[in-house]
Amino acid sequence: MRVAHTVADLRQALAGAEPPAFVPTMGNLHEGHLQLVRQAGELGGPVVVSIFVNRLQFQPHEDFDRYPRTLARDCEQLEAVGCTLVFAPDEAELYPRPQTYKVHPPAQLADILEGEFRPGFFVGVCTVVLKLFQCVQPRVAIFGKKDYQQFLVLKGMVEQLALPVEVVPGETARAPDGLALSSRNGYLGEAERAEAPQLALALRGVQAALKAGERDLAVIEARAMATLRQRGWVPDYVSLRRRADLQKPAAGDPLVVLAAAKLGKTRLIDNLEI
Ligand code: PAF
Repeated sequence: MRVAHTVADLRQALAGAEPPAFVPTMGNLHEGHLQLVRQAGELGGPVVVSIFVNRLQFQPHEDFDRYPRTLARDCEQLEAVGCTLVFAPDEAELYPRPQTYKVHPPAQLADILEGEFRPGFFVGVCTVVLKLFQCVQPRVAIFGKKDYQQFLVLKGMVEQLALPVEVVPGETARAPDGLALSSRNGYLGEAERAEAPQLALALRGVQAALKAGERDLAVIEARAMATLRQRGWVPDYVSLRRRADLQKPAAGDPLVVLAAAKLGKTRLIDNLEI
């Protein structure tokens, strides 16, 4: 496995090879990422993983400086799951000048849910992913469904800008108790970690209510939020949406329920397709 820190090294390493399958990450890898890398490996051809903590998608009060940088450990794990090339540029390499050209995804998809609580987040994500695509020039890119809205925003970007890459979803990896794997789980204290699976359980509760024939989505959402609040969480949203575009659903639409909530200082997100 090679590690390229510059775009020039990356291009040299990829020269003459078939276009790779690509898994963009911010490092601090866990089993959820490794599952995406294995999935990329199954597609045949080279597998490129990028590791870049993207300042553009952090708000001033968020954890950019605190975000764990664990390159050596990440590389060991990536090698073990068949990654061929790691692209790990530093900020000066990817943003040699302030990044003033940016991708602005549509408000109706990107300013709701995560975008409402993290303004500018998807501008930062789209901008860096477009740039990474230009560097890596992949045939396929895999994004986990754990970040459901991110997946849809990026799929839309690729479609509307006619980027020559296929965007493929990866399933959410979960701990045995149901907690969706996330780099942020590492911030949880022992008691918080024990409580954390309640977010996934709240989503299951929403699913059960629909199965039982309840139809008032606002009531179901409010009840899930109230349950989380009673347990000490501070929920940002629990929201039932149309899977295809995250708009308010009409009868018969395939649904996804998405949630974001703070447990102590740690903000967790999760979702469930229903
Ligand atoms: O999901 C992530 O880790 C990031 O948002 C991504 C896609 C690597 C862009 O920085």
